[in-house]
Order: sequence, then C-alpha cells, then structure tokens
Amino acid sequence: MSKNSLKVPFVDLKTQYQDLRSELEPRLKKTIEDCHFILGESVNSFEKEFADYCGTEYAVSTSSGTAALFLALSSLGIGKGDEVITAANTFIATVLAIHYTGARPVLVDVEENTYNLDINKVKKAINKKTRAIVPVHLYGQPVDMQPLLKLAKRYRLKIVEDACQAHGAEYKGRKTGTFGDVSAFSFYPGKNLGAYGDGGMVVTNSARIKDKMLMLRDYGQKRKYQHLIKGFNARLDTIQAEILRVKLSHLDRWNESRRLSAKKYNFLLNNLDGYVITPSQIPEVKHVWHLYVIRTKKRDVLQRYLKENGIFTGIHYPIPIHLQPAFSDLGYKKGEFPVTEKVAGEILSLPMYPELRDEQIEYVVKKIEGCL
Ligand SMILES: Cc1ncc(COP(=O)(O)O)c(C=O)c1O
Repeated sequence: MSKNSLKVPFVDLKTQYQDLRSELEPRLKKTIEDCHFILGESVNSFEKEFADYCGTEYAVSTSSGTAALFLALSSLGIGKGDEVITAANTFIATVLAIHYTGARPVLVDVEENTYNLDINKVKKAINKKTRAIVPVHLYGQPVDMQPLLKLAKRYRLKIVEDACQAHGAEYKGRKTGTFGDVSAFSFYPGKNLGAYGDGGMVVTNSARIKDKMLMLRDYGQKRKYQHLIKGFNARLDTIQAEILRVKLSHLDRWNESRRLSAKKYNFLLNNLDGYVITPSQIPEVKHVWHLYVIRTKKRDVLQRYLKENGIFTGIHYPIPIHLQPAFSDLGYKKGEFPVTEKVAGEILSLPMYPELRDEQIEYVVKKIEGCL
C-alpha cells in the first residue's frame, strides 16, 4: 500500500479480533454449549483476576461502567440531599451516575495541561452537603491523587474513582482504582480493556462494600428470591467475562504499545510547536493512553482534512456537560468553567490503539503538517 493511500481508523477492533481469534473462539463456543449465560464460575474467575491485576481485595462486575459508577456511589449510601464533586470535562456518564443516586452533581473546572480535575478548585466546591469526590482519570492519565486524598481525608469525603478510561494506569507505583473507597471501570468495546458489548466493574478493599455491590447488581438478593434491599439487574454477561479474561492477559502488552505510539506522536509532533499542543504528563504516572489528545486552534479544519485523507479522529468531548440541555437543571451558565469550555473547541483525539503501526503514525503527522 502506498503511503499516500493509507487508511487510519480511530480504533481497530477487527485487527485485534483476528489476533485473538484462536484464543477466544473455543471459550465462546464452550460458554454457549454449556448454556452458562448469567454469573457463575467465569464471572467469579474474571472478578478475582481483575482484583489481582489492580491490587485490590475485591472486584464486582456490572453491566456497564455507568452501572459500576452508580452502584459504587449507592453502595456508600450516597443519595438525595448529598452533593458529589466531579470534573466538568468528562463523559456524561460520570455525571449521570451521580444524578441517578438522587445526589446533586457539582462540577469543577479542569487543569489546562492535563485536562483533569483542578484540585485547588475542588476545595472551593466543598460544603456541608458534600459527601464524595469522583476524580476521572481522563484519557488514561491518573489524576494527581495525593493532594486529592489529603483533601478528602480532611473533609471526611469518600472517593469514587472513575477509572473507565484508565485500566492499568499507575500513580506513584499504584494502579488506578486502588485509591478510592470504591472505584469503577468500563469495558465498553473501545476501552483499553473492552468487551464485545457493554460491561463494567467496581473494585474495593472493603468487604462491606463488596457485599452491598453483590446485592445491588442482582435485584438486591443475597440468596435467590430473598430480597434484602431494592437492587437492580446490572450483571456482567458470562460470555463477556470469558472474553475479558482472555483480553486481560494482553492488557499490559497493549498498554505498552499505546505508550510507544504516544512517544512517537510526541516526537514527530514536536516540530509543529506553536500550532499543536501535545499531551502533557504529570510526574510519577504511568499513562495508558486510552486517547491521544492534541490541541489546535484549527481543530475543525484539521479534523475535516484528516478525514478526507482517510484518517479518523474523535472529540472527547465537544460540548461540556454544563452546556448540555440534559443538565440545564443544574443551573450552570456559559463561562462558568472557562478551561473546559476553551479546550472543548480545540481538542482532537488522534487514532490510538495497540495495533497502530509506525507508518500510520508517520502518515497522520505528515497530513497534520500538510494542513496546518
Ligand atoms: C470517563 C467515563 N466514565 C464513564 C463511562 C461509562 O462507561 P459505560 O459506557 O461502560 O457505561 C465512560 C465510558 O463510556 C467513560 O469514558
């Protein structure tokens, strides 16, 4: 294929499936032949393996990352009359999960260099009603957890990490998900660890939270037809657990490959200093590059140009939560979160996946150079 006619998808799940096919297909066949579709040994094993991977005592799987966040907050007893602080620049699911509990989501602006929660602004948002903070490890980069944990301790607030984009990321040598009272992951197909459908997980070191989560995700029952609380149907499909068990064994290798691609993008885009802002990393983190997000004032022109040249990109996220009609009831106004609003018009997520080849990265950067 000539360099002029390369196609670069935003993610490439088909190539990954071809690589994993021989591992996956016997497991899928067995699960279907055994007719084991809900919970059971595969789900239990995956939960144990995921908890071991993160370094927590327990993991409880759920039907999605949104369900994981919502049930995690519910397991802490958060509800009506409470306030929960999170980042203004996040996927809407973070804020929806807080809303589902009955608590009020309180948004806080992000830092201009990392796009993650600005901890100095978190402090100003704390009041008597605040019960918890939900740091979002956006794009795969951990939030600066040390000052945040200090703040949470001082004001006796719970921490629920939204690690939906940060499977395997580390902060000061510890995996994301291990800092919160309870933390949530998503296995949406395009995530660093993605199912073939929806899925999620919470991890925790608390046996009490684990027991509550097991009930909350399964109609509030501990034993069949004995409903101790009003729970939900929010279980991970058995077939997804089998897929995720296979994929978990490849996660570290895939994350390493993403890190190499990010390094190559950083190196090549360096020449465009002044036109393109490359992502910055805080010290002592192991970023897992769920997304590789650049910034440029010519974002929309660039995105169109790249598409015309067979390169597919994304925007995470084009309209901040506080400007979405769905959350107009929170009463926020335009201008309230200036960093979030500014970056929303400039950010562009370039193709990023473990199978991304060097020649594809070179082609993307060549085309960026050609446009700017
Ligand atoms: C930051 C963040 N939070 C929450 C979610 C919700 O996860 P899910 O799509 O599995 O419900 C996602 C992913 O979509 C996400 O990126």
